[in-house]
Amino acid sequence: MAYLPGFIMFYLTMMLMLCSPLVTAQVDYAQYVKPLIGSEGPFPGLAFGGGDIFVGGALPFGVVKVGIDTYEDNVTFSTLNGGFTPEGRVTAISMMHESGTGGGPKYGLVPSMPLTTVDAPVNLLDNRTYWQKRVGIDTAQVGYYATQLENGVGVELSASRHSGIMQYTFPAGEKHVLVDISHYLPSETGGSDVQAYVGGAIDLQPGGNIYTGYTSVGGGWNEGAPITAYFCGEFEEAPAQARTFSGRNTEPMQRYHTWSDGPVPQAMYGNLSEVSGPLNDRVGALFSWSNSSSSTVKTRVGISFISADKACNFKNQEIKSWNLNDTVDAAVQEWNQDVFSKIQVPTDESQNRTNLVLLYSSLYFMHLMPSDRTGENPLWQSGEPSWDDFYTLWDIFRCTVSLYHLIQPSYYQGMIRSLIDIWRFEGFMPDGRSGNYNGLVQGGSNADNVLADAYVKGLPGINWTAGYQAMVKDAEVVPYNTFSYTDFTASVKEGRGALSDWLALGYVSSDGSTRAVSRTVEYALNDYSLSLVAKGEAPGDVQKYLNRSANWQNIWAHNVTHKNFTGFLAPRLLNGMFNLTDYNPALCGECEWSAISYEATPFEYSFTIPHDMETLIQSMGGPDEFERRLDYIHLPDTSEQNLGANGAAITSIMNIGNEPDFATPYLYNYINKQYKSVQHARDLANQYFHDANYGVPGNSDAGALNSWLIWQMLGLYPVVTQPVYLIESPWFSDINMTINGNATLRITATRLDNKDGYYVQSVKVNGQSWGRNWLEHSDVMVNGGTIEFELGSEMTRWETGEIPPSPGHVVL
Ligand SMILES: *[C@@H]1O[C@H](CO)[C@@H](O)[C@H](O)[C@H]1NC(C)=O
Ligand SMILES: *[C@@H]1O[C@H](CO)[C@@H](O)[C@H](O)[C@H]1NC(C)=O
Ligand SMILES: *[C@@H]1O[C@H](CO)[C@@H](O)[C@H](O)[C@H]1NC(C)=O
Ligand SMILES: *[C@@H]1O[C@H](CO)[C@@H](O)[C@H](O)[C@H]1NC(C)=O
Ligand SMILES: *[C@@H]1O[C@H](CO)[C@@H](O)[C@H](O)[C@H]1NC(C)=O
Ligand SMILES: *[C@@H]1O[C@H](CO)[C@@H](O)[C@H](O)[C@H]1NC(C)=O
Ligand SMILES: *[C@@H]1O[C@H](CO)[C@@H](O)[C@H](O)[C@H]1NC(C)=O
Ligand SMILES: *[C@@H]1O[C@H](CO)[C@@H](O)[C@H](O)[C@H]1NC(C)=O
Ligand SMILES: *[C@@H]1O[C@H](CO)[C@@H](O)[C@H](O)[C@H]1NC(C)=O
Ligand SMILES: *[C@@H]1O[C@H](CO)[C@@H](O)[C@H](O)[C@H]1NC(C)=O
Ligand SMILES: *[C@@H]1O[C@H](CO)[C@@H](O)[C@H](O)[C@H]1NC(C)=O
Ligand SMILES: *[C@@H]1O[C@H](CO)[C@@H](O)[C@H](O)[C@H]1NC(C)=O
Repeated sequence: MAYLPGFIMFYLTMMLMLCSPLVTAQVDYAQYVKPLIGSEGPFPGLAFGGGDIFVGGALPFGVVKVGIDTYEDNVTFSTLNGGFTPEGRVTAISMMHESGTGGGPKYGLVPSMPLTTVDAPVNLLDNRTYWQKRVGIDTAQVGYYATQLENGVGVELSASRHSGIMQYTFPAGEKHVLVDISHYLPSETGGSDVQAYVGGAIDLQPGGNIYTGYTSVGGGWNEGAPITAYFCGEFEEAPAQARTFSGRNTEPMQRYHTWSDGPVPQAMYGNLSEVSGPLNDRVGALFSWSNSSSSTVKTRVGISFISADKACNFKNQEIKSWNLNDTVDAAVQEWNQDVFSKIQVPTDESQNRTNLVLLYSSLYFMHLMPSDRTGENPLWQSGEPSWDDFYTLWDIFRCTVSLYHLIQPSYYQGMIRSLIDIWRFEGFMPDGRSGNYNGLVQGGSNADNVLADAYVKGLPGINWTAGYQAMVKDAEVVPYNTFSYTDFTASVKEGRGALSDWLALGYVSSDGSTRAVSRTVEYALNDYSLSLVAKGEAPGDVQKYLNRSANWQNIWAHNVTHKNFTGFLAPRLLNGMFNLTDYNPALCGECEWSAISYEATPFEYSFTIPHDMETLIQSMGGPDEFERRLDYIHLPDTSEQNLGANGAAITSIMNIGNEPDFATPYLYNYINKQYKSVQHARDLANQYFHDANYGVPGNSDAGALNSWLIWQMLGLYPVVTQPVYLIESPWFSDINMTINGNATLRITATRLDNKDGYYVQSVKVNGQSWGRNWLEHSDVMVNGGTIEFELGSEMTRWETGEIPPSPGHVVL
């Protein structure tokens, strides 16, 4: 790969700038962030099996994520979800991306692409005629990304909240920027979750340095209705020539007009304005500068979901300076102030830099999604905050939202108010939502868990009357069937698709519904969540939902034995009989939408009853058997199921690469053997999370995997829907967390530097010796407090107090 001195110089000056006290007086934690962690999977050079992360310019929960869109040649192994791939060809630099998601790609909207020639064979309507390999080494830092295209153009970019700034440095010769409004991230493998361009428009202002318009693109992973993104772009230097173009849309698309299957036509140049019209024609513009003009083309682009005028205002207000570094500085400052400084650890020379990189990079990734679109809701008028890109609550309900609650309470309040507002205006809260459209629901209606978790911890500013109504809708009303290609049997758009089974039978049946095992355990927790909020909002409902939360017991087959363990969740039929024909709880077939359990085996889901661990442990044969089973799942080569990209390179049943097992390694706390939780969870963290491009074990899932690692490093783990945290073992000698707005939780640890010295010997909470291996939210998370760990190499059974609670304990 080519070595580019200009580039390296830029890199060095960036580093100098970031380290200089000019930025802020506080510590520049952004210097530890490596935005490429998660950009590769187990196959070097391929994104497959990696984090599917976004790489580029973004602010915390920002609307835009500005970065490259790429195409990988290895189609079978391709994942383009974040736009970025390690070695893929660049088709555009675009404004909207997801981060960490699986399924079909979504977004890749409002593009621009620097070109050095537009002569044949280049066809502006055929991306394969102009796409570019990258040469040299990409630079990725907080708020900044740079790459070098094979055509000699250097690309640098940064982002504000609704706008981006790009700087294209051209070699001598022709200079063009292509804006193809019909561009979006494609799905290389096709299928039902491809995106589709359904129209757009572009208008050039006389002089050609400002362009406005919109693009509408539907589909993608959540099978969403088209989202319309308005844009307003500006070039610092007016182009010598600016031309619109159009051409027939040859993309075959169901239910939309196109000139299907024809050859890609040549672009027809127009003048100042193009609209796609009833046949969804492709439209765009080409901007060209004379050979003699400056080699640098700078452009800033704003987007809005309301109007092009708003997009122009965002651009003008957010990016006032044509100096790209000014936007970078502002981004770095915001990330430091609003995100990284919320968890402060020692950063002096003696510290382990790898751990600093892992902590602050993880914080970065867990703040890329969802998107705060407050003021930008095109669907209804409401004074409530508006959020999008919950992709998905299934991923983030387990431990990500509990961290938002602590360190981002006002953003988090906005998210929950927005979930409730979506119910108010669309009828259901989402589980997944993207492009202003609910879907897909992988398991339960997990917004219920999110609301309950916030409720029991007293998040202020929420209308719980409305929140509870929204939860009751999930629990009582069957959502209408949208006949998704992923599952024709019932809705996967919102709510609980298998609710009729649940209400009639007390479980999800394996012959009446899909994903019967995993949805039964998820619906049980959802109903436990209702019982919690009902305490304040509808006391008469508490017992009903508590009883329903025990329904997982209805599919517990006490006589199923596998690998010398007895008692598992198992498929049960509409007629009440278990179907144990050829049943192996360590397998889930394709583990997808039509399987008996989703993205994890029944063996794994058999551990996921956080509200009633007491019954679960009894059902597995008591504490000793429970322990033996936990020990077993952590052994290598125990997995019998190939989980594909959701468990790449993981050979134990315990799969930390996907969410269902997040809490499992910590369950030894429930038998007062906390040292084993520490041992196994730490092993998983060390084995699968690295300061490397293949640094997370699978899709980061909107930062869910990253937030798991943060809790691990803090030495705590939240029990979802309970105001309870399991005590583990911290990675730093001193942690100051700013929680609940302005309180401080200080976590300290002595003897951290012993080899293997991370086992807990004793704990003090707020100065008092602590015999339990868990804490309540009110102990330290409201007004702050202290947790003091004495660590050491001995695996000590230090805890003497009662085990963590089972507040949903019900004997059926
Ligand atoms: C795609 O990548 C995989 C993993 O490296 C490799 O086994 C396979 O041969 C590649 N296929 C092509 C067509 O390059
Ligand atoms: C611009 O530069 C290109 C490449 O160097 C050259 O082929 C072309 O003739 C130049 N055009 C003009 C108008 O000078
Ligand atoms: C290139 O454009 C075609 C036509 O719009 C589209 O089908 C394809 O997915 C695009 N490819 C990439 C890599 O963007
Ligand atoms: C562009 O404008 C010129 C001058 O007004 C006109 O002659 C020409 O037909 C226009 N071209 C198109 C494609 O509209
Ligand atoms: C960023 O700032 C450095 C020095 O502060 C400067 O050398 C460099 O050219 C700037 N880059 C851009 C794109 O403005
Ligand atoms: C945490 O806060 C205490 C009290 O202000 C301070 O003494 C200590 O240095 C801080 N530690 C870190 C890592 O910031
Ligand atoms: C830093 O911590 C990592 C674990 O995160 C460990 O692998 C590495 O050995 C440590 N480095 C040093 C110098 O102690
Ligand atoms: C809270 O929500 C309830 C139910 O939707 C509604 O009747 C009430 O007006 C709301 N309260 C406030 C303060 O908005
Ligand atoms: C029972 O399970 C077996 C094995 O998975 C399957 O082939 C069969 O169709 C199931 N029976 C019913 C009634 O669903
Ligand atoms: C296992 O128990 C279920 C119900 O608890 C029963 O339907 C089934 O016949 C039993 N199977 C065996 C092999 O005992
Ligand atoms: C099976 O499990 C029991 C405990 O339930 C244990 O005593 C026995 O040794 C195990 N047998 C094998 C073959 O692992
Ligand atoms: C902390 O925040 C709360 C709520 O916003 C406020 O009432 C209190 O005065 C603040 N305390 C300090 C010390 O700033």
